[in-house]
Amino acid sequence: MDGLTVRRAGEGRPLHLKGTEVRLLAFGDGTEVIHHHLKAGTAWGLYPAEGWHALEAVYVLSGKLRIFGEEDGTLFEPGDCIHACPVTRQTVFVAEEDSSFLYVSSAPVFHEYTGQIQHLKRLAASIEEKDGYTAGHCERIHDLAMQIGQALHLGQTDAMYLNYASFLHDVGKLCVPLEILNKPGLLTDEEWRVMKQHTVYGRRMLEETGLPLLLGAAPLVHYHHERFDGTGYFGLKGEEIPFGARIIAVVDAFDAMTTDRPYQRARSKREALREITTLAGTWYDPDVVEVFHQLARILPEG
Ligand SMILES: [Fe+2]
Ligand SMILES: [Fe+2]
Repeated sequence: MDGLTVRRAGEGRPLHLKGTEVRLLAFGDGTEVIHHHLKAGTAWGLYPAEGWHALEAVYVLSGKLRIFGEEDGTLFEPGDCIHACPVTRQTVFVAEEDSSFLYVSSAPVFHEYTGQIQHLKRLAASIEEKDGYTAGHCERIHDLAMQIGQALHLGQTDAMYLNYASFLHDVGKLCVPLEILNKPGLLTDEEWRVMKQHTVYGRRMLEETGLPLLLGAAPLVHYHHERFDGTGYFGLKGEEIPFGARIIAVVDAFDAMTTDRPYQRARSKREALREITTLAGTWYDPDVVEVFHQLARILPEG
């Protein structure tokens, strides 16, 4: 079925949260379609949020939902649809009996449902100092990568993948022994082989969550050490390398060059930028480098 993504009934792991079973059925361009099943007595709500302008709609499939605290209670039954754009007041629904509904949001919310992403982010941040980076490496990579993504007009879905992959790119280093991770001298061939595996471990950690956003981000983590000419970790070249991974490669190299590491002193931003520019088209995607060049000029020197 060319061009169609099919998800069969029962496929994929649902998330279970306090009497609620949640499945992300479809997402794209920032819109998400989420199936909810609420056990009788469970509450679920729509909340206004600052800077949030999304359309949010609830379409009741089965059971009965009552608006909590309403005078004589407003009851919603299968076929009823409630929506707001944006949501301006808090509305809490309580399931009168086991109920299910589709929840559609024109901006991503699914990740809010899970602590798994926060957990991975904490792991990623914990590794940066063990790896000899200054604190804030993940954050800096994330911020720069997202600025490049914006300048290159990434679509909403790709931007979401980049959002997670850029922060989590090195999370797999948790599985690399510390003596290899911060060895001051050169790595032996065997140590180097283990080190390179951090990309594979990272991919696996993201995939193990089963979260669609992280499944989409996983290949970017896997291929963030590819080089444009095919001389990177796994030999992917040019457009074979996911675009987001090409962005991460540039900002990661820049941050590594401008940070004091166990085996090298930090270089100035200007110097690092010059080196990256000379490698445009060989190691790095020239389009990404061009945008980064414009962007890096406005970065504070330090
Ligand atoms: Fe890495
Ligand atoms: Fe990194």
